[in-house]
Amino acid sequence: MQQNQLEQLLSQMTLDEKIGQLTQVTGDFFSDKAEERTGPMSQLGLGDEELLNVGTVLGVTGAAECRRIQTEYMKRNRLHIPTLFMGDVIHGCRTIFPIPLALGSSWNEDAARKMAEVSAREASAAGIDVTFSPMVDLVRDPRWGRVLESTGEDPLLNGRLAAAMVKGYQGGDDAEGLGERTDHVAACVKHFAAYGAAMGGRDYNTVDMSERVLHDMYLPGYKAALDAGAAMVMTSFNTVDGIPSTGNKHLMRDILREEMGFDGVLISDFGAVKELIAHGVAADETEAAKLSIEAGTDIEMMTICYMRHLREIVENGSVDEALIDEAVMRILKLKNDLGLFENPYRGVDEETESKVTLCDAHRQSAREIAGESIVLLRNERKTLPLDEGGHVALAGPFAASHDILGAWSWKGVCEESVTLRDALREADGSEGWLSVAQHTGNPLDVDEAAVAEAVELAKRSDVIVLALGEPQEWGGEAASRSNISLPKTQIDLYHAVRDAAGDHCRVVVVLFNSRPLVLSDIADADAIVEAWFPGTEGGHAVADILLGGVNPSARLSMSFPVNVGQIPVFYNCENTGRPFNPETPDEKYQSKYLDVSNDPAYPFGYGLSYSEFSYGPVAVSSNEFAAGKPLEASVEVANVSDVDGLETVQLYVRDIAARVSRPIRQLKDFKRVRIAAGETVTVRFTLDEADVRYVHPDLTEASDPGEFDVWIAPNSRDLGAAARVSLI
Ligand code: NOJ
Repeated sequence: MQQNQLEQLLSQMTLDEKIGQLTQVTGDFFSDKAEERTGPMSQLGLGDEELLNVGTVLGVTGAAECRRIQTEYMKRNRLHIPTLFMGDVIHGCRTIFPIPLALGSSWNEDAARKMAEVSAREASAAGIDVTFSPMVDLVRDPRWGRVLESTGEDPLLNGRLAAAMVKGYQGGDDAEGLGERTDHVAACVKHFAAYGAAMGGRDYNTVDMSERVLHDMYLPGYKAALDAGAAMVMTSFNTVDGIPSTGNKHLMRDILREEMGFDGVLISDFGAVKELIAHGVAADETEAAKLSIEAGTDIEMMTICYMRHLREIVENGSVDEALIDEAVMRILKLKNDLGLFENPYRGVDEETESKVTLCDAHRQSAREIAGESIVLLRNERKTLPLDEGGHVALAGPFAASHDILGAWSWKGVCEESVTLRDALREADGSEGWLSVAQHTGNPLDVDEAAVAEAVELAKRSDVIVLALGEPQEWGGEAASRSNISLPKTQIDLYHAVRDAAGDHCRVVVVLFNSRPLVLSDIADADAIVEAWFPGTEGGHAVADILLGGVNPSARLSMSFPVNVGQIPVFYNCENTGRPFNPETPDEKYQSKYLDVSNDPAYPFGYGLSYSEFSYGPVAVSSNEFAAGKPLEASVEVANVSDVDGLETVQLYVRDIAARVSRPIRQLKDFKRVRIAAGETVTVRFTLDEADVRYVHPDLTEASDPGEFDVWIAPNSRDLGAAARVSLI
């Protein structure tokens, strides 16, 4: 449709029809089973007639069901405006990829794009038009269960991966054209804004930060996704400077729309319009509706303050109907961009659905990407990869567990995942180097029998692999924890096995989890493999790493604390006026703890490989750079091992004297480089004036002339000597 046709359509709509477009409810309401409809419908108090105007549907998939709902809806909707299906396809649809935090560890934009493409192919065939992904909330607190949905603690890395995901979902540079790209879906960036900064890591909790920090650290990730053409944005549950995002006019109108140039659809998070009452900024539903529509929240998800009250406040003149029209037009435009007016069924196709869902090619991509997301945290005495000829035992509650998809794998089916046990057995074939514990216990209860069996296995094996971790439900929404160690009975299992293993048996821990953990209880394992929740092909991917078929290349995108008291601990922090000096550790008046180091156990950017890389000094093409006159910083990286490998080379910069205190190091670029055994390569970066701009106290983005330290390093801790350069 042309814009004038959309306008004409809008002009034919009654006020109730318009308000209906601004409401989203779940698919239960459209179910053909009476009990599913009456349950939620009676709770929400939504009538049959009102349902005919509801503009979008949440959380239905399946080609047949979406087709049925759309057909019924189109028949009964007076102006035949198609409905639109949205859902949470977060890290895969039916083929589940590693959780986003694991994807963050891949530092691989191609992998992020591929994950999104595969997800879009499966989701669109199953009827989804919009996915509520990517989640770009910058995260610094692993107590928060939702860190699993983010790609980590760095604005640049988050932004690059988010942009890649948007491109993968949408298949083009913007949402227009999605009508032709029917095997793609529209992307909805969330949660705007700063949801990741919930105080104390407690979900839904208050966020309080300066607008400068918001702009400097938290907004760039969302911005990168918007610049990549994301069609939609979702509001966050939290307050920003005391005002809940969903009703925060300054945040949504001045920052998101004006400053960041977003003109697509803004949807509330689940129930967030009505939550303005609980937040204490709206006296009742009417006020919640008024504040939200004034803030520019176009769609209210799963409460009906708009449906119940907008009419009255438009009619009594306290809200201008133009605001409603503006929101409806954005929704009509999205439907039009998706091509729904021409073809309300878009990509829905039963045959394609059954062909692409969980097909071999998708499984293969999931396996490869999981392999690139698994971080080797520790590998003493070259315990890994497992030696040929040794006897390997496998035990622990995740050894044979299918529950390795991750908490946000909505359409994923746990039984379809490959367990570590099955993958290792497949590799073992009839060779007989593997023994698997019969009884492994469950993550919260490794009983005595499981411990005794693991101990016996350790006594007669060369290596024992303990598959440990958190239950999936300990991650995701409303799953904050104050203790982020492994569950107690798993720690007991580990100690019993460690004691039995003595010197003759190596202990390898493979971790399945949603968040950075405190790993002090297992710190003396011979090897630690952070597998995260690796998805459908998880077992294969872990086995590939253990057996050396895949050389680990992943790097942490979020720091692992030594203990909970250190949190938040993140790499791009400020120096303080009294920075800790490792040469005078006993000096009292420094910024430090009396009982723990300032450094994390495993820092941002860290991860081991089976190869060994050695870095030469940083070389710069000039000691000065200026706008339009970038300098080149380079380093020689040698693979000093006999194993080909992939190294993620990282460029960090520190602004020595700025208008505000700047991070002691900040990632400016990175390159993933394959380096053959024995080979040396020169890795080059360009440092431009634009790279050192930051948000000033007046919220403008600019650089200041002066000195900068430049490092090229394997992670944010082992920086080596800096090159000092000046911006002139
Ligand atoms: C609530 C979650 O916060 C959000 O991430 C999700 O997209 C919506 N529910 C819809 O399921």
